[in-house]
Amino acid sequence: MASPPIAILGTGAHAPSRILTNEELAQRVDTSHEWIVSRTGIRERRVAEPGQTTADLASAAAAEALANAGLAPADIDLLILATVTPDLDMPATACLVQQRLGIPSGAACFDVNAACTGFLYGLDVAWSMLSSGRYRHALVIGAERLSSVLDWEDRTTCVLFGDGAGAAVLGPARRPGAAILASRLHTVAGTSDLLHIPGPSYSLEPAEHRRVIRMKGKEVFKLAVRAMEDVARELLEQQRISGDQIDCIIPHQANQRIIDAIAQYLQLPLDRFFINLDRYGNTSAASIPIALHEARTQGRVQPGQLVLLVAFGAGLTYGGALVRW
Ligand code: ACO
Repeated sequence: MASPPIAILGTGAHAPSRILTNEELAQRVDTSHEWIVSRTGIRERRVAEPGQTTADLASAAAAEALANAGLAPADIDLLILATVTPDLDMPATACLVQQRLGIPSGAACFDVNAACTGFLYGLDVAWSMLSSGRYRHALVIGAERLSSVLDWEDRTTCVLFGDGAGAAVLGPARRPGAAILASRLHTVAGTSDLLHIPGPSYSLEPAEHRRVIRMKGKEVFKLAVRAMEDVARELLEQQRISGDQIDCIIPHQANQRIIDAIAQYLQLPLDRFFINLDRYGNTSAASIPIALHEARTQGRVQPGQLVLLVAFGAGLTYGGALVRW
């Protein structure tokens, strides 16, 4: 008998309780609530407390996803954590989460770095590994503490980002029809300089070496719209479905204007898109899994429905996944 397809069995999310509003930011840098809302749609974001790390946020989100899937830590034999803000350069933050949650020795645990597309990269890799039959249940986590890599004096970046974590449990489908149907990952060559955080081996003048986000926002904006539109079309064509058959689109939560443009180019109504960036800002790899979790808990994603996930991020990486819930 053919084994069941791989599906998402549960989701979870966790964000720090501390809310940082646009008004508070306007007291630190030369900006305003009106500018931030009109250019991005962001109203507030969450910021980790001192000592609260990416692994802390990831562990809380993952524990909720496990409970939602009705599985125990001992059921997990694959843990992939997407982040650009690991607790340590080594070992992987996935190993720290393994220990926190009590996932047994022997599980495969590693991090992926594909910036804001990281969760979709992790999802694709987990899907492939589970489909091979060599692993049974995977935890895929997107978690970030971006507040620790922001230049709080740079108004062009510090207003955009926030902290948080989201997680999904993958395993053999339990309902007929439920499945990850398709996934595509890409990278635009030669665009690394548009958005980056210097790492330990980066050789620049010490002043430029600070481990903070640097971004050419306008260029990223244009490429982001085209990339997410392209990968959405690619998945729809590959699966021979039309856009109006998609029940819910969960895009990377970077900027309301990017989402408006994609909706326009794909000729899809905006109310088909799940949007929570007004409350979280851009949480990079955590953005899609937090939104997926909220879409599920708010009933925006129902059994049998088609869900399209699309993201872009530093690299510039981009990707999409089509899921039958
Ligand atoms: N408050 C007030 N004014 C500001 C601010 C601010 N926070 N930031 C920039 N400005 C000013 C600029 O200095 C500029 O002033 P000038 O005309 O005197 O030079 C003016 O506003 C316009 O700036 P632009 O950069 O042209 O503003 P734009 O409309 O392009 O919006 C933004 C900037 C929001 C960054 C937009 O380009 C964007 O969203 N880009 C995509 C960014 C993104 O999605 N990044 C995440 C990537 S995902 C990942 O991997 C992390």
